[in-house]
Amino acid sequence: MTGPTALVTGGAGFIGSHCCLDLLLNGFEVIVVDNLVNSSAAAVERVQRISDKRVAFYQMDLADQSSLDTVFENHKIDVVLHFAAYKAVGDSMNRPLEYYSNNLAGLLSLLTAMRKAGIKHLIFSSSCSIYGDAEGLPITESSPARPTNPYARSKLMAEQILADLCGRYCDWSVTALRYFNPAGAHESGEIGEDPSGVPGNVVPYLTQLAAGRLDELTVFGSDYPTPDGTAVRDYIHVMDVVEGHRLALEAGPVPGFRKYNLGTGVGTSVLELVREFSEVSGRQIPYRLAARRPGDVAELVACPDLAHAELGWTAHRTLRDMCEDAWRFQKLHPLGYGDPTNMIGSRR
Ligand code: UD1
Repeated sequence: MTGPTALVTGGAGFIGSHCCLDLLLNGFEVIVVDNLVNSSAAAVERVQRISDKRVAFYQMDLADQSSLDTVFENHKIDVVLHFAAYKAVGDSMNRPLEYYSNNLAGLLSLLTAMRKAGIKHLIFSSSCSIYGDAEGLPITESSPARPTNPYARSKLMAEQILADLCGRYCDWSVTALRYFNPAGAHESGEIGEDPSGVPGNVVPYLTQLAAGRLDELTVFGSDYPTPDGTAVRDYIHVMDVVEGHRLALEAGPVPGFRKYNLGTGVGTSVLELVREFSEVSGRQIPYRLAARRPGDVAELVACPDLAHAELGWTAHRTLRDMCEDAWRFQKLHPLGYGDPTNMIGSRR
């Protein structure tokens, strides 16, 4: 007997690939749709090898409506997990049109395909960035949404579309999971975060720096109203994020639109993170204090109580676990997924 079938958009990406692995290990059939922009087919390959299960993989853009419709015609899909999106804050300031176009057109095309196929259960990757410069910390789901950059606004707009959809069609079940700052890697060290180009996010930047691929970290902003002047974030282990998805899946489908913070409730400054990562990796992390990055905010820390109360979810892993796992992936795969000799099972 086969298990339920999940369509995972962005399943070759960082969080998507970890989620696919967890789904496969928990009895789901998995279909991945990914255009391989900022993601890698090698991640899907490794997920298959770790789980010893097969994934149906479609390399395509979500905006390609007819191809997407065909995927829904070819498979009996029970639930959709939608990860595929552009996600870099700084990049979104430079390319707003591309961010709105990609993140919203992809969603609309996906929802259209779901409606045609009669699939009404969706888990959506949202982001803490929708809160923007939050007034009160920690941030609850009812804190006002005040996004400060196009990436964040695209996530908020997506949530609004989904809420409207659930308002109109009372049998749709949509859960938006608002991740704080996901980082780390699967404990095997075989899959992890491997952005294309110079990493925009701080954790992959640190791992590549420690691996000798980069020279110096630019710390964006040292004059924030935080204890050491650098920005504070709630870094959450990617496997805790993944567990949030599984619990949201297991809780549903429940008609309506729901939103949950996935964060630890613990804030860490950039300099604290640098210290922790330096200890874990045993490497010096040269850094330079610089101006704030446009679109950034001072402090984002989650109140994760609602996800705990309604989904039974808690982040179990620490900042140290996150640094250790991120570093393990980088050490085992210094060139990430780009090193063809560095397949599963090979060790350096
Ligand atoms: C942003 C989103 C978050 C989303 C994530 C996905 C906001 C506020 N948050 O996280 O919701 O999940 O993108 O990618 O929009 N930093 C440096 N030097 C660097 C890189 C980063 O100092 O080279 C600093 C940043 O200024 C920030 C912190 O490190 O204070 C974390 O940055 P980053 O990893 O890029 O994530 P966010 O922008 O917080």
